[in-house]
Amino acid sequence: MPAISTPLIIALDYADLPSALTMADALDPRRCRVKVGKELFTRVGPAAIDALHDRGFEVFLDLKFHDIPNTAAGAVEAAADRGVWMTNVHAGGGRRMMEACAKRMSEARYRTHLIAVTVLTSLSDEELDEIGVEGSAAAQVERLAMLAQQSGMHGVVCSAQESARLRDRCGDGFLKVTPGIRPADGEVGDQRRIMTPEAALAAGSTHLVVGRAVTQAAMPMEALTAIERSII
Ligand code: C5P
Repeated sequence: MPAISTPLIIALDYADLPSALTMADALDPRRCRVKVGKELFTRVGPAAIDALHDRGFEVFLDLKFHDIPNTAAGAVEAAADRGVWMTNVHAGGGRRMMEACAKRMSEARYRTHLIAVTVLTSLSDEELDEIGVEGSAAAQVERLAMLAQQSGMHGVVCSAQESARLRDRCGDGFLKVTPGIRPADGEVGDQRRIMTPEAALAAGSTHLVVGRAVTQAAMPMEALTAIERSII
């Protein structure tokens, strides 16, 4: 499979394989990657990944593993065995969990990118306080991103608002995969902290997860082309 250089990852948030593949077939695997999340994977299983690989797509398997070190390492190895381009764990699993995952990947010389989720953007400062995380969400994001980097992760999932700070702390080479992307003329929907594709890249995001702005468009490839033009 040829390496592609686009930052765009299209979220295939569907509950069945035919719907996911109908959207995939409207997209060009040379111009975007795709993301398979918990709903599609739990309903369809690895067949979803295989069908997308058969169509030439690189896949981000977004299952956010969080378990004891040996179990999490087995899960990321299973994802890498399936040939996915990227997968992820929760940084809250701690240093030993992330190190075990990174070690398993490097021992087997997998090329799969392994990134960490720091703090779910859905959590408010009050909710974080309730689960024992004192201080701001931003401080916790920074702490966990640095721990993830020290533990061998290749990057983090983060909001574009966090990318600039994480670029300062973790460098350009540390991947910053950013959802909550809306084109300047796009619908906001249920997202709160949104940014345009060009602003997110300028802030330091290395990859952009785009869902409905492309998948709900009447012409998905035209929507994707408009995003490409905005970030040249
Ligand atoms: O449709 P939209 O562009 O909002 O989709 C964004 C995708 O990124 C969805 O798959 C969503 O679950 C995911 N995501 C997010 N915010 C996060 C983490 C993941 O929107 N903090």
